[in-house]
Amino acid sequence: IAPSMLAADFLHLADDVNIVNRNADLFHLDIMDGVFVPNISYGFPVVEAIASAAEKPMDVHLMIVQPEKYIERFARIGVSMLSFHLNATDKPAQTLLHIRETGMKAGLVINPDMPVESLYPYLHLCDYIILMSVYAGFGGQKFIEETYERIRTLKAEIDRQGLNVKIEIDGGVCPSNSKALIDAGAEILVAGSAVFKSDDPAKVINALK
Ligand code: DX5
Ligand code: ZN
Repeated sequence: IAPSMLAADFLHLADDVNIVNRNADLFHLDIMDGVFVPNISYGFPVVEAIASAAEKPMDVHLMIVQPEKYIERFARIGVSMLSFHLNATDKPAQTLLHIRETGMKAGLVINPDMPVESLYPYLHLCDYIILMSVYAGFGGQKFIEETYERIRTLKAEIDRQGLNVKIEIDGGVCPSNSKALIDAGAEILVAGSAVFKSDDPAKVINALK
């Protein structure tokens, strides 16, 4: 379970970092540039602050153009997993290789309207795939039901190629769909609003598990 810090309370960020440290598995950090997506989230000062207190690995989801420019910088901060959108760069293969060279795990992300088949040429270069179950850009959106079928299709291709690539689902994940997502083949679930907008985040994380 990877709580998305986009939904955290930024006035009391340390409290929400501790909730992840105590109850979850990864920190999911959404970086938006206002160009690749019509929203701006947060940048290096916030990632560095979280890094200073994180006891769980950081999973950074880049929603920025030219993600290749910032690989080294995230590696230096101590990020464990770095992903970018397939259509955010003209050199996806090179970018995946570069991420792996730094020692981070490399991930590729697609929005719900991009065919899962577009990932197939790159699967052998990926440690994980993020299938968006909402359109990237904002927290708190409604889960798109077609995601289950996309997970099954992707999982079958990963198995067919004999690869060890994890499937991560991002957007609208909550305790009422988490089991079906895992049953379909997902291994990492991102959840922002469901966790941090609840009165009892620890309980929601356990319910997701
Ligand atoms: C959307 C982000 C998500 C988002 C998830 O662009 O990639 O990680 O924060 O938030 P919820 O769980 O609220 O849909
Ligand atoms: Zn995300």
